[in-house]
Amino acid sequence: MVHTSTSEVYGAHVLDPDGTRFLECGMALRAVNVGYAEDEIDQAAWGQIRNGNNLTRPSLIELEPAELLVGLIASVDMVKFAKDPWIALSYRRGESELAGTERAVYRRALEDGVERYLEGTGHQDGLQKVQWSRLMNERYKETLQIDHETTARYYTASITRKSEQHKQLEQILRGRGLQPRRIADVACGGGGSSFHLVELYREAHYTLVDLNEEAIDMARETMRGRNATCFVGDIYHLDLPDNSFDLVVCWQTLSWIEQPEAALRELVRICKPGAFVYASSLFESRHDVDVYSQVFDHTRPSSAHGLHYVYNTYSLRSVRQWIDGLVSELQLHEFEIPIDLDYEGRGLGTRTVRLETGKRLQLSAGMLLNWGILEVRK
Ligand SMILES: C[S@@+](CC[C@H](N)C(=O)[O-])C[C@H]1O[C@@H](n2cnc3c(N)ncnc32)[C@H](O)[C@@H]1O
Repeated sequence: MVHTSTSEVYGAHVLDPDGTRFLECGMALRAVNVGYAEDEIDQAAWGQIRNGNNLTRPSLIELEPAELLVGLIASVDMVKFAKDPWIALSYRRGESELAGTERAVYRRALEDGVERYLEGTGHQDGLQKVQWSRLMNERYKETLQIDHETTARYYTASITRKSEQHKQLEQILRGRGLQPRRIADVACGGGGSSFHLVELYREAHYTLVDLNEEAIDMARETMRGRNATCFVGDIYHLDLPDNSFDLVVCWQTLSWIEQPEAALRELVRICKPGAFVYASSLFESRHDVDVYSQVFDHTRPSSAHGLHYVYNTYSLRSVRQWIDGLVSELQLHEFEIPIDLDYEGRGLGTRTVRLETGKRLQLSAGMLLNWGILEVRK
């Protein structure tokens, strides 16, 4: 046993008082650790800290040695900095096929002008989350309103083109043979989901709710002449009665809000017993890990106001816990996009990467988007 208090430390080596040299287990055998009381490394690290590197966000200084190692050692074809569980998890999810594209994805994240801060990861139980407040709710709306141009483009796109996710929802609904009469579209944005569902359920009545007034103005326009009611409302406190809808849809929203558990319970509350809730969002079905992160997109005006977007991925384990005892069935339909998506711009924006197997992954500023459609039966 080596008592480090009375020994000297050189990189991964430890000398005991008799001068016997030991390899220090953690330093030598874990992934890659540097900077353990080595003057040169300490100084370089200090210089980087002064440059603004904080060891939580990706930086070029990491990419450079990683590329150097890959170039130098024939048997190495990837170097992993596992400090950011999203990235570690993402690449595991993409499995080994992603190795060849990994560096490109990582570089892309740096060049996109997007910063990501992890608020917490791990099981929901042990997670330290920032105390949620009503203010955060308002801040998301403010972010969308300040980034008016990208928000409007996003809302409009959901109406003008039926997305592949909407097509998958249609397929699931047809398979279920549902004939809903009352449909709720919560956090409806410009009303895209309802607009496309009308093709399937022409006779139904649609209730569209969103916190953002601009979204509701657009949703009213989208649903003009159709059997619909649109109003400004909060997903956490819906002004709608219990057990009142045959179908509840919440599209591309749970991952972007701070309290998904409260939101999901509210969606279940307004759903009739035996009826279904469908929520498309980012989910992790293979690992029991949630990832909560805040993303500053420096290509959008909101970041200059100190405002961020939330990009969370929820494990099925957590989702089950949130609504345990409230629902009779829960299922995740994984979504694999069947087409290529191109995004030329910087900042947040979805593009696809094609793996050798033909499978496509969806990425936004280096983040893997594990889309899925959650199906819950009350
Ligand atoms: C990413 S957009 C999705 C919009 C739409 N469902 C779609 O698929 O096009 C998320 C939407 O959630 C809305 N939202 C955010 N917080 C909300 C809240 N607390 N209550 C209701 N809507 C909210 C936003 O205004 C935004 O329109």
